[in-house]
Amino acid sequence: MAAAAATASKVNRTTWRDRFRETGWALLPLRLFLGVTFVYAGLYKLYDSNYLSATAPGGVKRQMQLAATSSPIGGLIQHTIEHSSIFGLMIAFGELAVGIGLILGLWTRIAALGGMALAFTFLLTVSWSTRPYFYGPDIIYLLAYTPFVLAGDGGVFSWEAVLRRGARLDLRLPATPIGPESLATRLAIDRRTLLRTGGAAAAVGAAALLIGGIGVVANRSEGEGAAPGAAPAPTPTPGSTGNAAGAPAGATLIGAASAIAVGRSVSFTDPKSGGPALLLQPKAGSFLAYTAVCTHQGCTVSYEGSQFACPCHGATFDATTGNVTGGPARGPLTKINVQVVNGQVYAV
Ligand code: FES
Repeated sequence: MAAAAATASKVNRTTWRDRFRETGWALLPLRLFLGVTFVYAGLYKLYDSNYLSATAPGGVKRQMQLAATSSPIGGLIQHTIEHSSIFGLMIAFGELAVGIGLILGLWTRIAALGGMALAFTFLLTVSWSTRPYFYGPDIIYLLAYTPFVLAGDGGVFSWEAVLRRGARLDLRLPATPIGPESLATRLAIDRRTLLRTGGAAAAVGAAALLIGGIGVVANRSEGEGAAPGAAPAPTPTPGSTGNAAGAPAGATLIGAASAIAVGRSVSFTDPKSGGPALLLQPKAGSFLAYTAVCTHQGCTVSYEGSQFACPCHGATFDATTGNVTGGPARGPLTKINVQVVNGQVYAV
């Protein structure tokens, strides 16, 4: 008898191996990755002083202007560019909400649907021109959300599951169903769970608005502190205005020609746009300069051998012409005219 009971208990015991075969456990690593990534992406935007800037190369407005020329929904984007700040805030707070929902297991299916909608938007705008398609991350994100839309969080580390159990106990039902339940019972549980999850979602949403809002307000007051119409300062070293003897009128000093090795580049601030730029010396005595802002979505390119390369979606540009040689970018890098006077290189 005792042996039979021991055998039955062994058969009924859930092992860790069994557990990891359950949907909720199997999906947990992906769920946490997506959740943390989307929280990070949302906060990164909200705390970036350039994100809502109307002129910054990496700002949402500039990205929308670029997407308007390459996206299949370019016409729609064109009409909404003047409201770029509102769209930028919707995207950033949307990412934050999706990430928090996934991490906490609160309205997981709805959060996953939101994640899919955001990934689809990015696919149509940011990644649309990426070739081959698997170089663009957004199609992967779009598909990665699918299991959570279909299966939810499976009740593992799920705030919603905790609240549902509480609702069941309030109705004097066992914490988990032990058999079929009537429609009326299920509706009563759903109603109570919805009220509780709604309250929890409102509290979490308010906290997210507060945390994200602090970043937006801090950036705004930073912007207001700057002198009206002031252009971003040129790179302190080596840039300065060209008042030295023999300097071209109105030119900006980039640096001493001797400081740039052949085949290397130095970064400086483009005096016209205020954005990052690169000065290179491909051959001895020959200097070229380009803005370092990728014409795809505004990431900063770097000089690698005979080309410029963008780390975001793999665009490459010819280092002697600035023309696109690969990846999703359509337009060339903007050339900056330079002049060497008395061993100093100037942007003219
Ligand atoms: S920003 Fe997309 S390739 Fe450069």
